[in-house]
Amino acid sequence: MLPNNITLSTNLKPALKDFFSQQQFSKIGVLIDENTQTHCYPLIQSLLPEHTTLQIRSGEEHKTLLTCQQIWQWMTQQHFDRQSLLINLGGGVIGDMGGFCAAAFKRGMAFINIPTTLLAQVDASIGGKLGIDFMGFKNHIGFFRIPDHVFISPDFLTSLPQRELRSGFSEVIKHTLIADREAWNELSRKKVPEIHWLEQVEHSVQLKQRIVSQDPTEKGLRKILNFGHTIGHALESYFLESNRLLHGEAIAIGMIAEAYLSHKLLGLPRQELEQISCYIRDVHGKTPLEKNCLPQIAQLCLQDKKNRENNINCVLLSQIGEARYDIPISEEEIIEALEFYNNE
Ligand SMILES: NC(=O)c1ccc[n+]([C@@H]2O[C@H](COP(=O)([O-])OP(=O)(O)OC[C@H]3O[C@@H](n4cnc5c(N)ncnc54)[C@H](O)[C@@H]3O)[C@@H](O)[C@H]2O)c1
Repeated sequence: MLPNNITLSTNLKPALKDFFSQQQFSKIGVLIDENTQTHCYPLIQSLLPEHTTLQIRSGEEHKTLLTCQQIWQWMTQQHFDRQSLLINLGGGVIGDMGGFCAAAFKRGMAFINIPTTLLAQVDASIGGKLGIDFMGFKNHIGFFRIPDHVFISPDFLTSLPQRELRSGFSEVIKHTLIADREAWNELSRKKVPEIHWLEQVEHSVQLKQRIVSQDPTEKGLRKILNFGHTIGHALESYFLESNRLLHGEAIAIGMIAEAYLSHKLLGLPRQELEQISCYIRDVHGKTPLEKNCLPQIAQLCLQDKKNRENNINCVLLSQIGEARYDIPISEEEIIEALEFYNNE
């Protein structure tokens, strides 16, 4: 069962109608980028009450204060107030940054997410983490705030480039690995084109929602959702400027490296490490990492938000479906894990 504020359907019309009939907003704005303007906005435009739109440039490199400034200027010029609504129509970048801007504008106005990438549908739009990148660090500035509603339709995925679909799929894999062994067993038998997205998205959303509802501000259990992310975020930060890795591609490498550390430090069976590594490689292929960049990537892990007192804390698996958090790892171990990824 999904909570009342999440709708998942191939037909969003009734739920949107219901939402807008129950509430009055002084202004409605839709945040889009050039891709969601072309592919997603036409599917939804006629289902929304009168509104104005702002198109920003797509891409992680625009998830910055500069773009926030553009969004807040637009809101101010359009006379948005605390009774206004922002609709984030796009992937994780639009959702994280639009939510951040809405939550900060005049100390907070309503926002809803209509996620249009697989990654945003199964992960970024759920759980209320909002934010932007800063000084080259991922999601360095942000808040926790749950969107007023999330409307998810797998129909948006039809226009999504394959590379983006695979990127989002990393988070689907992650959800099964940390908490649902049976789902992993089923998923790992399938190739990406064989997946039924409505069912798969529902499984992921339910799983994430179940974890987040027990620990909304990531004091404990919620940390397990960061499996693959300690090393993954460092890789993403490392490649931020060259734009070489998508979020899910970085997390895919992070999951293999952290599965290696799970084997080394928590006794994840070797056979399970091999299964995880083979399946993720089948989906994503291999991105060779130059040996001389590994220490710098390991150092970037020191910026991870889960760290305490200069310890790098990681989420590791004791077995598939069982995750443990706050496991300290060293820079040397991270380098070793990335060498494992390179050599496998
Ligand atoms: N808040 C969270 O809990 C959370 C969780 C995971 C990831 N994230 C964040 O999410 C971001 C990555 O999100 P993403 O992978 O969705 O990337 P993205 O938002 O950059 O979108 C990827 C690309 O797809 C395009 N696009 C979006 N929908 C489309 C569609 N239906 N058809 C065609 N093109 C479309 C976008 O314009 C963009 O070029 C990262 O910034 C990451 O930090 C947040």
